[in-house]
Amino acid sequence: MEIIDNPIDARRWMAAPSRSQRVALVPTMGALHDGHLSLVRRAASIADRVVVSIFVNPTQFAPHEDLARYPRPFEADVAMLRDSGVAMVYHPGVESMYPNGFSTYVEPPSVATVLEGTIRPGHFRGVCTVVLKLFVAVPAQIAVFGQKDFQQSAVIGAMVRDLDLAIEMDVAATVRDADGLAMSSRNRYLSADERIAALSISRSLFATRASWQDGQRDAEVLGSQMIDIMRRGGIDNIDYAVVVDAQTLVPCPAADRPCVALIAARLGTTRLIDNVLLPV
Ligand code: PAJ
Repeated sequence: MEIIDNPIDARRWMAAPSRSQRVALVPTMGALHDGHLSLVRRAASIADRVVVSIFVNPTQFAPHEDLARYPRPFEADVAMLRDSGVAMVYHPGVESMYPNGFSTYVEPPSVATVLEGTIRPGHFRGVCTVVLKLFVAVPAQIAVFGQKDFQQSAVIGAMVRDLDLAIEMDVAATVRDADGLAMSSRNRYLSADERIAALSISRSLFATRASWQDGQRDAEVLGSQMIDIMRRGGIDNIDYAVVVDAQTLVPCPAADRPCVALIAARLGTTRLIDNVLLPV
């Protein structure tokens, strides 16, 4: 497994004749867990070679967010990937991604303007910019993302379509702990009490899916149900709990299309997001 720390060498590695096979890229910010590894396995099942990028991208964090404390256990991450058949880890330094004078950004698509886009202004501009840079440094045929960050996958999918990027998007299911909590690098910030409270996020999503399956289609009723369950579980700092159209992320207008229930909530200083699909 090779480790490469700058865009020029990454492109050179990708251009070697032996790399003409299908390559799948799995972009991450490291602090890897089983959710990330499931993307790596998925990538290995659909491509000949897997490249994982590990880069804590400063441009997607607002000044008050957790960039400084974001975990960076690089050696442990590399050890996990060595056992997973990964061909190359792309781990660029901040200076090689954003050298002095860097000033070009991607204007994100309209699906980035709601939900996370409202609460974290500038977040998707940073995500789109870094993902485009990763796609340029590692011109893979496939990119694998997680459903866990549902809106992020939708935003990147729209960017790929709008900018005619020659990469195929693959979105893999959310991996959860046995008790239902969606795996996240940020779960390690949670105290024992916060972790118990956090379970009401997945509980409320599963309850909403059950109500949906029983025929409840009123997005407001479903949203209130999620908020009630989280409040009873000890979460009162809820950014949103909504049922929206799975394509546009606008409030689900009718029962005849796939929707998604999305939650963002804060436990102390930790912000968690999760979602479930509501198939028709
Ligand atoms: P990060 O949060 O490290 O997530 C990397 C990828 O892992 C994303 O596609 C995310 O959706 C997926 N993922 C996270 N938790 C998961 C889980 N429990 N099950 C399945 N997949 C999961 O998302 C980012 O990094 C960054 O924004 C990035 C795209 C790398 C750009 O900087």
